[in-house]
Amino acid sequence: MQRGETALQGVLSGLSGLYEDNLFLNNLYEFLDLKPKIQDVTYPKSFPIPVRQGIVVDRVSFQYSNTPRHALHDVSLSIRPKETIALVGENGSGKTTLIKLLCRLYDPTKGNITIDGINIQDFEIADLRQNMSVIFQDYAKYHFSARENIWLGNVQIPLSDSSIESAARRGGAHEVIQHLPNGYDTVLGKLFETGEELSIGQWQKVALARAFLRESQLIVLDEPTSAMDPKAEYEVFQRFKELTKDQMAVIISHRLSTVKMADRIYVMSKGRIIEQGTHTELMALQGDYAHLFETQAQSYR
Ligand SMILES: Nc1ncnc2c1ncn2[C@@H]1O[C@H](COP(=O)(O)OP(=O)(O)OP(=O)(O)O)[C@@H](O)[C@H]1O
Ligand SMILES: [Mg+2]
Repeated sequence: MQRGETALQGVLSGLSGLYEDNLFLNNLYEFLDLKPKIQDVTYPKSFPIPVRQGIVVDRVSFQYSNTPRHALHDVSLSIRPKETIALVGENGSGKTTLIKLLCRLYDPTKGNITIDGINIQDFEIADLRQNMSVIFQDYAKYHFSARENIWLGNVQIPLSDSSIESAARRGGAHEVIQHLPNGYDTVLGKLFETGEELSIGQWQKVALARAFLRESQLIVLDEPTSAMDPKAEYEVFQRFKELTKDQMAVIISHRLSTVKMADRIYVMSKGRIIEQGTHTELMALQGDYAHLFETQAQSYR
């Protein structure tokens, strides 16, 4: 009797376990069933290598599907080959949204984005993204080794490739990694027992190295250096022009000392571009940019 009872109990708890696990499986299946809203076209055009005329954003408006507000209104800008542009503007002005449209995480509600005159919707998505490297504000921290963290920027090269170390040097991560107990093989983050946690600024250096690893035609840095100390940031941007001399680059930063070196600066406010020009032109204009710059400069004097 007793053995029969235990066996029955075992079966019943097994069944209830199955039921509970099934609840989680439902979530998984729902997730796997999601279809991306952004689809490849049937006959994609090939991405121009190298880009000859540049990227043009033409009167683009955008609205996130879950809100009635427009995140972007009638935004037009251009990036010519080898040019570095900067986006500045208050929080929520639409800078990151514009970058998301550039790499086709969303499609514009109105207007077009073209590269060498070809709408980016006509490229294969993988092909488009292969040609850009982007560090978002909320860049990923992988709990892998330091080497793998950088390698994920371009998984087509072997893990032992020497370009990983040179990318680390360019992003300023080499010194950080060298001082870790196992160098490039140290696991980052505290998820695993042997892992080494980095500071936010040090993580940013690793993310920057990841972006430099890919030989892309466009590099986008969305506040990549916000937590770096002024010396590290100065060093990165001192070399930035040199590092990206053959690439198009977009930098987003609230530190105008960084923005100053861009070939063209676009000032955004509430989803619109309100001023554009070089640092000198914008200072002469005495508008919002000049005011912001003076305010920042003043606090250092
Ligand atoms: N996933 C989303 N869904 C709905 N609305 C969003 C989403 N992401 C951003 N927004 C809205 O879009 C607007 C622009 O946001 P965005 O992130 O582009 O600003 P930002 O200029 O990058 O700001 P910050 O300087 O803080 O990074 C904001 O009003 C925000 O509320
Ligand atoms: Mg942003």
